[in-house]
Amino acid sequence: MSLPKPNVPMAGFQPDPTQDASLVCLADYEQAALAKLPPGPAAYYGGGANDERSLRENLAAFRRRWLLPRAMRGVAAVDLSTTVLGRKWPAPLFICPTALQRMAHPDGELATARAAAKRGLTFTLSTSASTDLAEVATAQGPRWYQVYLLADEGARRAMLERAIAHGYEAFVLTVDLQRLGRRERDIRVGFAITPGVYLPNIAAAAGVPLPDAPNVPFMSALTWKDVEWLAKLGLPVIVKGILRADDAQAAIDHGAAAIEVSNHGGRQLDGAISALEALPAIADAVKGRVPLLLDGGVRRGTDVLIALCAGATAIGIGRPVLWGLTVNGEAGVGRVLDLLLTELDYALALSGCANVAEATADLLSAQR
Ligand SMILES: Cc1cc2nc3c(=O)[nH]c(=O)nc-3n(C[C@H](O)[C@H](O)[C@H](O)COP(=O)(O)O)c2cc1C
Repeated sequence: MSLPKPNVPMAGFQPDPTQDASLVCLADYEQAALAKLPPGPAAYYGGGANDERSLRENLAAFRRRWLLPRAMRGVAAVDLSTTVLGRKWPAPLFICPTALQRMAHPDGELATARAAAKRGLTFTLSTSASTDLAEVATAQGPRWYQVYLLADEGARRAMLERAIAHGYEAFVLTVDLQRLGRRERDIRVGFAITPGVYLPNIAAAAGVPLPDAPNVPFMSALTWKDVEWLAKLGLPVIVKGILRADDAQAAIDHGAAAIEVSNHGGRQLDGAISALEALPAIADAVKGRVPLLLDGGVRRGTDVLIALCAGATAIGIGRPVLWGLTVNGEAGVGRVLDLLLTELDYALALSGCANVAEATADLLSAQR
């Protein structure tokens, strides 16, 4: 008897001799990474703010949702591609900005950017990255630059102009970091940045020696005017960290090209709603005028499918990339991406969807 073969565009479920064969899903990579990391980076990467309610809720929100798969739709192969901000993407997935990736692996953000580039997936580089934005650009993949506006106007402009000059295609303005959330795991273990790991993009922009970059202040008290200012620099602005419909509307009114629904991986306001639960009200308000990105708690292909059905255009992943990077550098990130892509391919096929556009709200059960 021969069963229809899954359409596996990238070898997620094939054995990979360069990888530990016992790691077969993103949770396995998390466990392996946490076993390998020193206590400081493990706390920094894994933790959330205060009681970590929002961190846990990000994952729990997906577990509460159930699918109503369609039968008999004649689906043999699945087309994962989609379009975001005028660019064709191979899948509705992108990599979120996460700071300080060289604490996970010496190749840091360059390894992540290379793994993403090989798969045509968009990589977001953090302002607080540990690799220079010019070096990351050598991966030659589609790339966005996540913006924390620096307090000094000259430094602020210098950083953004460097990103533009090095081919970053959009600015992702993070709006939920009025100040750094209180992350109690970090406090307990006395987290400090690993010696030899720096913030080169901040140092270059501010013109300070590498060790002084952590003291360069960010702009405080941002308002919607700052979105307008950023949009004038010419790149599309994605506003990241929106959880309310009125804020989504305001972001559009002030020039946002896309909205990233996110609670910053539960690292900022503990008690903030999960992105998945916040999404429907935002989707109702936005009415398809701009792409709606979502991040937080996505660990399975079915999570991606659920987010698509709830109204997301594309889904970002944060921590799972850090787990892959910790375990095996570029190859580990690649494996994490391939697993998720392959799981998404299965999720769509087994739900009777031939493509991403068929992932619609009627696939979600009202049951919680
Ligand atoms: C270790 C770590 C560092 C992060 N650094 C940044 C950052 O520099 N800028 C930013 O906008 N978001 C940052 N985030 C938030 C992510 O972009 C994203 O919103 C979140 O991680 C998504 O949730 P997930 O980790 O459950 O996938 C960080 C998250 C983590 C875990």
